[in-house]
Amino acid sequence: MKLFIKKPLAHLMAASKEGEKTLKRTLGVGSLIALGIGAIIGAGIFVRTAAAAGQHAGPAVTISFLIAAAGCALAGLCYAEFASMIPIAGSAYTYSYATMGEFIAWIIGWDLVLEYALGAATVAIGWSQYFNTFLDTFFHTHIPFALSHSPFEVSTTTTGIYAAELGTHGIINLPAVFILLLLTLLLIKGTAESAAVNNIIVIVKVTIVLMIIGLGWSFINPAYHTPYMIPTNAGTVKTNTGIVDYADTFNHGWLGVLRGASVVFFAFIGFDAVSTAAQEAKNPQKDMPKGILISLVFCTILYILFSHVLTGLVPYKMFLVQGKEASVTYAIQAAMHGYGWLASFVTIAILGGFSSVILVMLLGQTRVFYTMSVDGLIWPIFSKLHTRFRTPYKSQWFFFVMVSLFAGFIPDSIVGDMVSIGTLFAFVLVCIGIFILRRTDPDITRPFKTPIYYIVCPLGALICLFMMASEGTDNWLRLFVWMAIGFIIYFSYSVKHSHVRHGNAEGANDPPNPKFVE
Ligand code: ALA
Repeated sequence: MKLFIKKPLAHLMAASKEGEKTLKRTLGVGSLIALGIGAIIGAGIFVRTAAAAGQHAGPAVTISFLIAAAGCALAGLCYAEFASMIPIAGSAYTYSYATMGEFIAWIIGWDLVLEYALGAATVAIGWSQYFNTFLDTFFHTHIPFALSHSPFEVSTTTTGIYAAELGTHGIINLPAVFILLLLTLLLIKGTAESAAVNNIIVIVKVTIVLMIIGLGWSFINPAYHTPYMIPTNAGTVKTNTGIVDYADTFNHGWLGVLRGASVVFFAFIGFDAVSTAAQEAKNPQKDMPKGILISLVFCTILYILFSHVLTGLVPYKMFLVQGKEASVTYAIQAAMHGYGWLASFVTIAILGGFSSVILVMLLGQTRVFYTMSVDGLIWPIFSKLHTRFRTPYKSQWFFFVMVSLFAGFIPDSIVGDMVSIGTLFAFVLVCIGIFILRRTDPDITRPFKTPIYYIVCPLGALICLFMMASEGTDNWLRLFVWMAIGFIIYFSYSVKHSHVRHGNAEGANDPPNPKFVE
């Protein structure tokens, strides 16, 4: 059945050399780190921190961040080893095709749709929430509840920017679809982020986080941090989507913290995006591991400090009712008197920051599918380039429609959880992959080696598995259904069209990279 047939490493490296003629190797380690931070800081920290604290972990969401960071750091080390071993553009999909074979590559490639496409949908929903705050702050108007929420959400307030008759159902999240359309058009036109633009957005995002930490620290109310974990008897809270009962297993104590980790894990997603710029890196074998790992460590420190301040500004339960949407501006307005300007500034900068995350996600998604399509594992339409712009425009339109269906009609909590479980699954496979390769192919040149791999790999896989385990049965079911759809496509289409299987592996892996030109 040739399930585990591998793509020859020599072909990949040849494609990489070819790329040197057309793509500028302009990215130093600084730009790679900025690229990582650009893709990492987004809706996770600004939206999901409050959701995790409000429903699962309370102030101990800081510990949730630590757990999620540990899983990411270990997986990040494995990613770094892969990236230095196979320094070409692509993703975990490309790495695994060369090392673990087609079937695993398919699973990872298919699974990455959850990370990238649904990741874009989740951040687009976050963008929509902040867009409403922006309209309210600067123009004293807002998009009506029904047109900025999915049909699964119901109005629970008659005041503020989400005011609507109690019980009003959402129809569609229009602002989310709008930003997706805007960015899709940009991507089709080939307007890739330059390193300069990315660096500016990163500076703005990081400045905001630092300002909230620095200025907010003195407004922390220690009473809101006591007790640190949610107690079993914390009661219930009525929210947009139903009633949250803190007596539920994953809504208090350590299990709540663990569940919180799987929610905030989203905030770390994106560090693997660094690996997609390998062909533009000046010194990929040395700098890629640095780019991946330094951006991760930097963001972890920021996240822990940030979440400590956020949960000290308002009681965690408030995040479920008042502050769930646009929670950061809510917390600033509620607690940091005299800093209203910061809330306004935060809103504008977050809108820009989210846009860059969505852009990178949509780009990453079409690039993974481009490579899979060139490899013959999915339909040729996904590698069809626009004659003038030389971008995979059909794929871009396809994902605009698909991502919009999620962003427009499903609540962010569900979409975001699917992103997390899907990405965690990819990380588990990457950790296991490095472990297996160390045993089966110890002689491959590895410019970066995961230290004490026999501990790092299993531990990384285990922590990610634990976070997956706390995702709840609904999310597991969604993951199984998604994978089942993938297997149907693989066995009905891919096995018949795979170029590697049919002895035609050339030409693969020449994805349309964005040019991060300095
Ligand atoms: N880590 C990215 C974010 O939080 C996906 O938006």
